[in-house]
Amino acid sequence: MNVCVIGMGYIGLPTAVTLASSDIGVYGYDINEELINRILSGNTDIVEAGLEEKLKEALERGLLTAGTELRGDSEIYLLVVSTSLDRESNRLDLRALKAATGDLGKVLKKGDLVIVESTVIPGITEEVVKPILEEKSGLACCDDFYLAFCPERVLPGNLMKELINNDRIIGGTDRKAAEMARDFYSRYVRGKLHITDARTAEMAKLMENTYRAVNIALANEIAFIAEENGVNVYEAIRMANNHPRVNIHLPGPGVGGYCLTKDPWFLIQDFENSRIIKDALEINASMPEYVADMAERELHTAGKDISESRVCVLGLAYKGNVSDARESPGYEIFLKLRELGADTVIHDHLVGEYMDHTPVKDIYDAAKGADALVIATEHNLYKELDWKRIKSLMNTEPIVVDTKNIVPDSIPGFDVKKLGVGL
Ligand SMILES: NC(=O)c1ccc[n+]([C@@H]2O[C@H](COP(=O)([O-])OP(=O)(O)OC[C@H]3O[C@@H](n4cnc5c(N)ncnc54)[C@H](O)[C@@H]3O)[C@@H](O)[C@H]2O)c1
Repeated sequence: MNVCVIGMGYIGLPTAVTLASSDIGVYGYDINEELINRILSGNTDIVEAGLEEKLKEALERGLLTAGTELRGDSEIYLLVVSTSLDRESNRLDLRALKAATGDLGKVLKKGDLVIVESTVIPGITEEVVKPILEEKSGLACCDDFYLAFCPERVLPGNLMKELINNDRIIGGTDRKAAEMARDFYSRYVRGKLHITDARTAEMAKLMENTYRAVNIALANEIAFIAEENGVNVYEAIRMANNHPRVNIHLPGPGVGGYCLTKDPWFLIQDFENSRIIKDALEINASMPEYVADMAERELHTAGKDISESRVCVLGLAYKGNVSDARESPGYEIFLKLRELGADTVIHDHLVGEYMDHTPVKDIYDAAKGADALVIATEHNLYKELDWKRIKSLMNTEPIVVDTKNIVPDSIPGFDVKKLGVGL
């Protein structure tokens, strides 16, 4: 079996490496030459346990090769290119998927199986990918080649394990395609493989991330209510979640990452009457401003004006212990604090650069001269800080605003304010 992974990014590279670790020959194709050269030299910016070692091993064993030319010598093609949100229209941007599909159509052969793993709205596999492949290849779907949709549902930070252990939904454009895809995934996936049609699988993927985004919005609103009622929201959620049918998520500084910020928009892009999902997206989008205002209030209580204060945001990555900063709430908080007039700095030891901004790498350098720290990401590093040392570097009456509930409720010498914790 020889597989071609088209799009070697956050999902494509770990997928290719996982396939090679299962003794499947893989060719990784991407239009980004710099990325391909980095991969071929055995390096990656993606922070995932085991990824880099397995990449080096796959290259050494000759099971993984990569390039910027799409070759036609595989039997299975996985489309894992970006499917971004057009921020102007809040609609799915299909340019990358259409371009990659067009290139694939030119090399497609009889008997090949194409699996779309990129997140799309219902109908894209059958109404966009299929006709492009047929037109470019001159072959007929379901007779000459086979087409399925199988969404990726991994959790960044635990990707290498979840790629293997998670259940997969396989949506075939016909039964044979679904069965071929199931045979392929059964080579390396230990989770269950659930077969359905492509349109249902496309919709289910969007529903999963929408459920999570709406649940986070619910937790955020509950956090506001807890603050007003003198309740600790984390304790209240822990209690409520003892109920066998309740699973309230945690509040936070806003939803970041590539998927939860766009997939709910994809789900409602042609449904004008959305109420719950739209409101949830608005609540989540308002959180960075809410957190910046919290910092301003706490500084004011300490007798300081935000426009004369230095605030250090801890965490540019959108979630703990990963290097991915896409749609980073920490960055949004950083911008809001600047708008409020604060002298602002942002720390992250895992993120290289984001939006032309390079975070300070050393936590103690970042904290120097600050009046407030705002924790925006649950990096393990922030759970193990030397608070005595931090205090000695900061200004008098230092403040900690914790949006992730990761520092102690009280720290000697600091005024600690936690999101969702009322007095
Ligand atoms: N990142 C996640 O946690 C996650 C989780 C589940 C699903 N997904 C979905 O997986 C897909 C890929 O996401 P990602 O995070 O890996 O994105 P990414 O941006 O990290 O990677 C996509 C890669 O596709 C390449 N590419 C773009 N156009 C191309 C073309 N025409 N031909 C070849 N390569 C091309 C890009 O250069 C990039 O390297 C998206 O649809 C995303 O929604 C992502």
